[in-house]
Amino acid sequence: MAIYLDNASTTFPKPACVAEAVYRYLTEVGGNGQRGDHAAAYAADELLYDLRCRLAKFFHAEAPQQVIFTKNVTEALNLFLFGLLKPNDHVLLSPLEHNAVMRPLELLRMRGVTYSFLPCAPDGLISPDGLDALVQENTVLLLVNHASNVCGTVQPLEELAAFCRRHRLLFAVDAAQSAGLVPIDMKRSHLAALAFTGHKALLGPMGTGGLILTDEIGRRVRPLIAGGTGSKSHLYSMPDFLPDRLEAGTLNLPGLAGLYAALGWLEEAGLDAIREKELALTQLFLEGLRPLEEEKKLVILGRKDRSKRLGVVSVRLLKKDQALVAQALAQDYGIYTRVGLHCAPAAHKALGSFPEGSIRFSFGHFNTPADADAALRALHELC
Ligand SMILES: Cc1ncc(COP(=O)(O)O)c(C=O)c1O
Repeated sequence: MAIYLDNASTTFPKPACVAEAVYRYLTEVGGNGQRGDHAAAYAADELLYDLRCRLAKFFHAEAPQQVIFTKNVTEALNLFLFGLLKPNDHVLLSPLEHNAVMRPLELLRMRGVTYSFLPCAPDGLISPDGLDALVQENTVLLLVNHASNVCGTVQPLEELAAFCRRHRLLFAVDAAQSAGLVPIDMKRSHLAALAFTGHKALLGPMGTGGLILTDEIGRRVRPLIAGGTGSKSHLYSMPDFLPDRLEAGTLNLPGLAGLYAALGWLEEAGLDAIREKELALTQLFLEGLRPLEEEKKLVILGRKDRSKRLGVVSVRLLKKDQALVAQALAQDYGIYTRVGLHCAPAAHKALGSFPEGSIRFSFGHFNTPADADAALRALHELC
């Protein structure tokens, strides 16, 4: 049996109830949302409404209709950035951004949008002190990667929210890695927007995700795509209300049925218990890496203890070729990791591991201490 330590890419396996819900949708429910006057279509409507309610409650959003479904967090971030920003707007970013943010912003740069990074400590943590000078007259938004997919560092949302309020900036979060592990309260953190993906720590299927907006920002963001919504069909223009205004085309209903089941599973297990389990494994792994770091065989990126982090641990090898070691881990030991830049060159630049990148071990709910031990033993042999 392989040992799956690539949960930051996508969590695996999923709880059985998630697969069962997808199967049940495909074999017993089947209808399309807002597109029919029969029981199968009503069941789809009910699922969409219940899921919006569950997500709004989970993230403390203002109202269920402000949950816009997308196929992943990348699409959610594109919808938000292209829909909000105008020429001459300036955006502040956390230093550990993923290309799901950098690439839309590079396209927007051609339309006159500019951006700059907040500084961070060597472990990737942003200190909210001393940031005031970075705000420009045209700064409209601070966008923060809540938890790094490279080193697991978790940023302090509430302190950053206070900074945004002081400067009247919108505050938005890419919660790709944190949603499902770290409780997020949109109201307490004064979030204008939260982008999430369903297939990582939320334990749902791929092809699910969303953008949650406040009412005010929901009115301002322009649609990314336009088309049928099943509502106001006499109009050529998009309906003027949420979620329909920003959500065109048939949704991934089987996937969303799986996400609904996953959220129920998470609520029952409890985020604190889930996170504690993951952090205990992470601590074990970090402690086992320490002798290798002392022998100068590798460097641990980011925080070296279990505080202010998730179970994403990256190491930069100093004596061996990382790609070959990752390949040997997979082929000879059955240990699946991810090597390289993890779609986050900005993060590796900030952490001093660009351009070579790192080998990333990312723990999930279904990993065991034996998995962490096996990875450590293999690393001791290979490094
Ligand atoms: C921080 C972060 N943002 C965005 C993404 C993109 O996720 P998706 O491919 O689900 O859109 C990832 C995926 O690794 C991520 O870790």
